[in-house]
Amino acid sequence: MPAISATAPGKIILFGEHAVVYGQPAIAAPVGQVFARATVSAEIHAPAGQVTIQAPGIGFAARLDSLSDTHPLGMAVRSVLDTLHVPRPPACTLRISGNIPVASGLGSGAAVSVAIVRAFSAFLGHPLPDEQVNALAYEIEKIHHGTPSGIDNTVITYARPVYFVRGAPIETFLVRQPFELVIADTGIASPTSLSVGDVRKLWLAEPERMAALFEQVGALVRRARQVMETGDPAELGALMLANHTLLQAMTVSSPELDALVQAAVTAGALGAKLSGGGRGGNLIALPAAGQAENLAEALRQAGAVRALVTPLPPR
Ligand code: PMV
Repeated sequence: MPAISATAPGKIILFGEHAVVYGQPAIAAPVGQVFARATVSAEIHAPAGQVTIQAPGIGFAARLDSLSDTHPLGMAVRSVLDTLHVPRPPACTLRISGNIPVASGLGSGAAVSVAIVRAFSAFLGHPLPDEQVNALAYEIEKIHHGTPSGIDNTVITYARPVYFVRGAPIETFLVRQPFELVIADTGIASPTSLSVGDVRKLWLAEPERMAALFEQVGALVRRARQVMETGDPAELGALMLANHTLLQAMTVSSPELDALVQAAVTAGALGAKLSGGGRGGNLIALPAAGQAENLAEALRQAGAVRALVTPLPPR
């Protein structure tokens, strides 16, 4: 039996992170330059039911039956076995690889889940449709994020730019004038569950102030969608900076993110903001026309450990 592989892209949130957990819209897009891959190979000499999971990139190797019910990699495999009613799969090894930095706002957790669900269900002869892949990946996101909105698993499963509202049907939209974004990494790993949890504590302590911030984000996201659908990316830059200021007020920025946002503006970016959970991880910056590579270099000079240019919509 040949090995079966599936890949899933990374993602960035353009607008609306955190507020999206509280019902506001957000805009996200896949990033094809980074990906997670899951490969399942049959092990003909091992006993039926034995599933070994290896993720060499993070030094992980374990048997499925040794993992707790809440281990995200184990959950991804078990969710497929349960969905397909396969209590004893053929013996196999699942290998996870890819190049999405962990805990950096690029959706590594969701991409790994989507890749595993796709590869494992295909290995069992019943590749699951996107809707089911998305639903299973969402359950696993709850382990990563605590109270996820579902935006990461959705944009990664469908691999298209989305306008996302929690609980609403998926909406994709057309970008009138394609543009490029620079994604720059602070190099600081920051688990999304922590910043999401801290925002929740603030919201419980000061519901009115936080709700007002979330609503301002929502208004800005709706405007950003209009701007992307009708042209003029220049206004997007101003909206990104306004969104960053609101994220600072939610306490999810950090000195390193703020310094890189400032460095982007100094280097001529039309706007910049943190992307994803915050406190570390990545920021995105909107270059002036033809300036993407120069802006990426300026951000590396200013301390970003990585900076890549990604087209929107993805090519
Ligand atoms: O996975 P990250 O770090 O890109 O963050 C996801 C976006 C949040 O809004 C912070 C959380 C969520 O579930 O929507």
